[in-house]
Amino acid sequence: MEKKAIVLNVNNQDYELYINPKTLLVEAIRDYIGLTGTKRGCETVSCGACTVMVNDMAVKSCSILAIQCQGMKIITSEGLEKNGQLAAIQNAFLHEGSYQCGFCTSGMLMATSALLKETKKPSKNEIKESIEGNICRCTGYNSIVRAVEGVANGKYKEGSL
Ligand code: FES
Ligand code: FES
Repeated sequence: MEKKAIVLNVNNQDYELYINPKTLLVEAIRDYIGLTGTKRGCETVSCGACTVMVNDMAVKSCSILAIQCQGMKIITSEGLEKNGQLAAIQNAFLHEGSYQCGFCTSGMLMATSALLKETKKPSKNEIKESIEGNICRCTGYNSIVRAVEGVANGKYKEGSL
């Protein structure tokens, strides 16, 4: 298939890419832009490891073509940090031990960040629902839920460690 020139806005920066129109967003982010925080897991929209935010909504980046995301605001886990200051949710994950191998962590951070954009004080059920499409094979989910609750109740703020 003939390649096309597209522009993707990722973490508030425009990237001009020359890609096959069938390129998935996850491939564009990792293989063309080089942001490898977003993980490629199942590639069948099942594991959530590839979750990013597109226009503030959690989106599995293996479920959408890069070309469809032109003109949209894509945020990856690398984009959560601002001027060397970790986002509150990143601090919360670190302090609550919400990761082990880390493979799911980027997707979990983005799914829960999208929830916190939508509602500042989510209920436990809303937190659980926000990560129901994200699989963690190591840590379990309680520490992840605790981290989101910690942000919601002001225990964790943005800042350095
Ligand atoms: S890699 Fe996208 S959901 Fe698993
Ligand atoms: S920390 Fe290993 S899969 Fe979640």
